[in-house]
Order: sequence, then C-alpha cells, then structure tokens
Amino acid sequence: MIKKILVSIIFLGLVFALLFSFRVIVSNQRPLSPLTFLNDSAWSELAEDPAVTYRGKIQYQLRCYKCHGFNGEGIDSFGKYHGVALNDSTWIYGSSYNAMLNTIYHGAGDMRGYGKKLIITDLHAITVYIKTLSESKPLNSE
Ligand code: HEC
Repeated sequence: MIKKILVSIIFLGLVFALLFSFRVIVSNQRPLSPLTFLNDSAWSELAEDPAVTYRGKIQYQLRCYKCHGFNGEGIDSFGKYHGVALNDSTWIYGSSYNAMLNTIYHGAGDMRGYGKKLIITDLHAITVYIKTLSESKPLNSE
C-alpha cells in the first residue's frame, strides 16, 4: 500500500516537472515584441476604430480585470491582487497613450510587464481601450 502511494507521488512529481520544463522552454523562446510608440494621429486613428477598441476590451477583461476591476474601477478589497483604478483621471505614470503603453509593456510596482505576453498590436488596442475608461465614455457594456 505505502509502496503504491510512493510510486504515484513520484509519478505525479515527474509529470509536473515535465509540464513545468515545457512551460519554461516555451516562454524562453517567445521573443519580447519590440515596443513601438505611435504618434498622435496614429493613436487617434486607432481610437476611432471600433474593432480596435473592442479588441482592447476583450484583452483587458481577460487579463487585467483581476487587479484593475472589470470596468477599471480598481480593486481595493482583500486578496492577493492589488491594482489601481483606471477609470479615473489620476495617472501615476502619465496619461498619454505612449506613457500608458510604456507602463503596460514594462510593468510597474506589483504589476508585471506584458511585453512578453502579448503582441504589440494587442497592447496598442488595450491602451486605446483603457483611455476610453478614464474618459468615462466606455463602450456599450454587454
Ligand atoms: C497583478 C495585478 C495586476 C494586473 C494583472 C495588471 N495590473 Fe496594472 N497595475 C497594477 C498595480 C499594482 C499598479 C500600480 C503600480 C504602482 O504600484 O505604482 C498598476 C498600474 C497600471 C497602470 C498605470 C496606472 C497609472 O495610474 O499610471 C496601467 C495603465 C495599468 N496598470 C494597466 C494594466 C493593464 C492594461 C493590464 C492588463 C494587460 C494590467 N494593468 C494588469 C496591478 C496589476
């Protein structure tokens, strides 16, 4: 009986080790997408495209809600995640599109950077979406 338990524990350990090393290999192979800043007219072109804003919204609600709240209201409750509100006009790291993009790309404080996790056009889309939150004209919530 003890032998069986030991064997299963070792087996499970091996499986986890395999999965973990696979994860490490995959994440090392993914290159950091180059950080491209845009000029004002390129940003407003993106901001006027509903498809871009919608893409940003989806990405935001998948990856950022747990710290910044589903609609950017921030989370100040219990739990291990702490973020700041993104739907107000207070910006620690600057309120321009490029400043926000820089923060999202490199991370800040307890927030890790997303330069390695997302492609740059997704980061642009998220930036555009976040800006709509603070301008208090969010997309129709559905
Ligand atoms: C693990 C929690 C966490 C996640 C997930 C997270 N953030 Fe953050 N974020 C933070 C914290 C904490 C700060 C404040 C940084 C500091 O301490 O100065 C912050 C700051 C920011 C800021 C700067 C706010 C300001 O006032 O200048 C932006 C923009 C931002 N986050 C966007 C995002 C986006 C976009 C995502 C998803 C791709 C995201 N965050 C995911 C925790 C998180």
